[in-house]
Amino acid sequence: TKGSKLGMNTNKLANVAHRGASGHAPEHTIPSYKLGEEMKGDYIEIDLQMTKDGELIAMHDESVDRTTNGTGLVKDYTLEEIKQLDAGSWFNEKYPEKAKKSYEGLQVPTLEEVIQAFGKDARYYIETKSPEVYPGMEKELLRVLEKYNLTGVNERSSKVLIQSFSKESLLKMEDLNPNLPLVQLISYKEQATISDEELNELTEYAVGVGMSYTKIDEDYVQQVRNAGLHIHPYTVNEKEDMERLLDWGVTGMFTNYPDRLNDVLKDK
Ligand code: G3P
Ligand code: CA
Repeated sequence: TKGSKLGMNTNKLANVAHRGASGHAPEHTIPSYKLGEEMKGDYIEIDLQMTKDGELIAMHDESVDRTTNGTGLVKDYTLEEIKQLDAGSWFNEKYPEKAKKSYEGLQVPTLEEVIQAFGKDARYYIETKSPEVYPGMEKELLRVLEKYNLTGVNERSSKVLIQSFSKESLLKMEDLNPNLPLVQLISYKEQATISDEELNELTEYAVGVGMSYTKIDEDYVQQVRNAGLHIHPYTVNEKEDMERLLDWGVTGMFTNYPDRLNDVLKDK
C-alpha cells in the first residue's frame, strides 16, 4: 500500500496527541504539544486555520471565541491581531483543577512556530480545516513543509501525515506533492459501514482513514485493515475504549491523553 511504500512503521501503534496533550493543557498551544511529546505521543496533532493575511495557525475552530479571549472569525484577523489574544486562560477557567499560572497569556502558535519548536525529529499529523473557507491553504501548507524539508520520499515523509474531512483538500495536496501520506477523515452520523467500492476509492489516494470511535465496530475495522489502510479513530480518552479498539485491530488513535494510551499499550 501507499503507507508501507512511504515507510510508515506499521507495527508501532500511532499514539496521536490530539491538539497536543489537550486533556492536560490548553489545546493547540506549545505547552500542550510539549506535554504530548513528554507523554510519548508519536504525533503532534495540529488543526489548521488561516488568518486574513494568509498565515497558517494552530486552532480547531473557525472562530477564536472558544479557545481565546477574543471574538470573531480567524479569517477576519491578521496574524498580528491573533497574536494579541490569550489562548490559555479559558482553560484555567474551564478546568480549575488543571489550571496553571503559566497558561495565562499563551499565544496562538503558527504552524511554522510549532515546527521550529519541535523540529525534524517530531512527527506531525496536520489537518486542513474548513479548506473551502481558505483558498490557497494547501499551497501554503506545502510551502511550509518544503521550507522545513518535511516532504521527501524517505523515512522523513512519515514524519508528516496530512488529514482532512475534505477529499478535495487531500487531492489538492496530492496534486501539489504526490508523496505526502494522506488520511481521509470521515464523519458518520450513524453506525459506520463501508463498501468495497469506497475502500477501493480511498486506497487510490489515502494511506488511512479516521472516524469517531463511537461509530465503528470490529467488522468495520477489519474491512479497513483488509484493504491495507490505516485506521485511526478519534477521540479516545478512556482506557477501556482504547483497549477495545486495540483488540479490534486499529493501527492508531487520537487521544487527549497520550499518557493513558501508553499505559494501556504497556499492559498489552
Ligand atoms: O482530526 C481527527 C479529529 O481531531 C477530528 O475531529 O473536530 O477534533 O478535529 P476534530
Ligand atoms: Ca483534528
